[in-house]
Amino acid sequence: MKLIMLGPPGAGKGTQAAKLSVSLNVPTLSTGHILRTAIKEGLPVGLQAKEYMDAGKLVPDEIVIGVVKDFLSKDEFKTGYILDGVPRTLVQAEILEKMGVELDAAVSIEISDEEIEHRMQGRRVCNKCGASYNIDANPPKVENICDVCGEKLVIRDDDKPETVRQRLAVYHAETEPIIGFYKERGKLLPVDGTASVEETTEKVMKALEMIK
Ligand code: AP5
Repeated sequence: MKLIMLGPPGAGKGTQAAKLSVSLNVPTLSTGHILRTAIKEGLPVGLQAKEYMDAGKLVPDEIVIGVVKDFLSKDEFKTGYILDGVPRTLVQAEILEKMGVELDAAVSIEISDEEIEHRMQGRRVCNKCGASYNIDANPPKVENICDVCGEKLVIRDDDKPETVRQRLAVYHAETEPIIGFYKERGKLLPVDGTASVEETTEKVMKALEMIK
C-alpha cells in the first residue's frame, strides 16, 4: 500500500499514519519528524530547516525533496509507504509524480481550524520516535512517557498558539491546493477527522478497502 496523508497541521496525520503503518505493515516517512531529528542531531539539513520551522513556515522544496529522495531509496520503502507531511506544495507534488512515486490513495483528513487550535494545546510528542499524544483525547498509558519507546514527552516548539495560527495560514495558502491535484487524478480519499482516533482509523481502513 502506498499512501499520502493530507490535512492541516494537527489534523491527526501523524497519529493516523502510526496506526495505519501497523495495520497495513508499511513504514511511515514523516518529513516533520525527520527534520526535527536532524535539528536535534545538529545535521546540516536540520540547521537549514530550523528557522523556517520555528517561524511556522514551510522548509524550501529543494531541501525537503532531497530528504525524501534519500529515504525512499532505502530498501524498507521499496514495497510500500505512508508519506506523512509531504507533499506540502504543488511543486513537491509535481516533483514526486515526476520521480515516479506511486500511490494508491491520498487520504485527506478534514477538520476545522478551531478544532485544531484546541487539539494543539494538548499535544505532547516523543522527540525520539515521533509518536504524538494528546493529554485529553489520546493520552499515553503513563503520564508524560512515550508508550512506544519510554522517552519523556515534550511540547513541540512550533505548537505555541501564534505559531499554530501561522502554520494554518501557510496550509491554506500553499498546501490546500494539493487536494485538487490528487482529486483530478482520482486518488483523493476524504475522511472526516473530527471523530475519535480509533473511529477515524476505522473510517480510513474502510475507505481503503473500497479501493483495493
Ligand atoms: P509536520 O511535523 O509535518 O507538522 P504538521 O503537518 O504541521 O502536522 P503536525 O505534525 O503538527 O500534525 P498532525 O496532522 O500529524 O497531527 P497529530 O497526529 O500530531 O511539520 C512541521 C514543520 O516541518 C512544518 O511546519 C514545516 O516547517 C516543516 N515541514 C515538514 N514537511 C515539510 C514539507 N513537505 N515541505 C516543507 N516544509 C515541511 O495530532 C495533533 C494532536 O491531535 C495530537 O495531540 C493528537 O494526539 C491529537 N489527535 C489526533 N487525532 C485525534 C482525534 N481523532 N481526536 C482527538 N485528538 C486527536
